[in-house]
Amino acid sequence: MALLKVNNVAKSFDGSPVLNGVSLSVEQGDVIAIIGPSGGGKTTFLRCLNFLETADQGTMKFDGKSYDMAHMSSKEINEVRRHTGFVFQNYNLFRNKTALQNVTEGLIVARKMNKEQAEEIGMRMLEKVGMADRANHYPSQMSGGQQQRTAIARALAQSPKIIYFDEPTSALDPELIGEVLSVMRDLANEGMTMIVVTHELEFAKQVSSKTIFLEGGVIVEEGPSKEFFAHPERPRTREFLRLEETRF
Ligand SMILES: Nc1ncnc2c1ncn2[C@@H]1O[C@H](COP(=O)(O)OP(=O)(O)OP(=O)(O)O)[C@@H](O)[C@H]1O
Ligand SMILES: [Mg+2]
Repeated sequence: MALLKVNNVAKSFDGSPVLNGVSLSVEQGDVIAIIGPSGGGKTTFLRCLNFLETADQGTMKFDGKSYDMAHMSSKEINEVRRHTGFVFQNYNLFRNKTALQNVTEGLIVARKMNKEQAEEIGMRMLEKVGMADRANHYPSQMSGGQQQRTAIARALAQSPKIIYFDEPTSALDPELIGEVLSVMRDLANEGMTMIVVTHELEFAKQVSSKTIFLEGGVIVEEGPSKEFFAHPERPRTREFLRLEETRF
């Protein structure tokens, strides 16, 4: 049974459709890459999956339960979010908290965990992303790559069943991209289920199990990543891949 299945997600902003019926099925351990041109609806789709935006239409099955995405109660939203993590392009760390405090905050406040236990988990997660030696640093004392790895540790601390990443490396200087992708690659190898919106086509090709090309609010093409990149079927997909390759 799929861990996550969404059907026919639609969303408009001010009368302009941004998502026009997007469906997706995710098995446990899948790494799904979502690629596509700017404005295609990638962020909106990911945000709808975690109810940071409310879809106008769509159904979700997650962890064995069914939801009407357009009419979610706060109880239902919390029920889903309890098992999901979200990693933002700009890290979204608390500026006035250390790396460790950023990671433990959710455990202590939302999960009512005691401080010692939260810190033990927090240190374990910081270790996992190579940030244990900077546990007491504030975001202003970290590089972008370090901040993003801390944000990943924060997501991991909640033991999520799935993590959503929205262009996790696109705010980073080129020399810092690798360290974040390497942490994500390790997670994928450990079997973490992830949906990753990315412009890093090499990462999508090598690490993701499935790639989705989203443009104009619809899935233009999707498939197992090896096939997707080796033999894209749609002319539009081929054109996009060619343009992306020559972007740098
Ligand atoms: N809160 C909002 N209010 C109005 N329009 C929005 C809002 N959020 C997104 N849009 C519009 O929806 C469309 C899709 O945006 P979205 O951010 O999902 O694209 P994207 O594929 O993530 O693009 P990028 O690669 O640039 O991040 C765009 O035209 C955008 O201007
Ligand atoms: Mg986006």
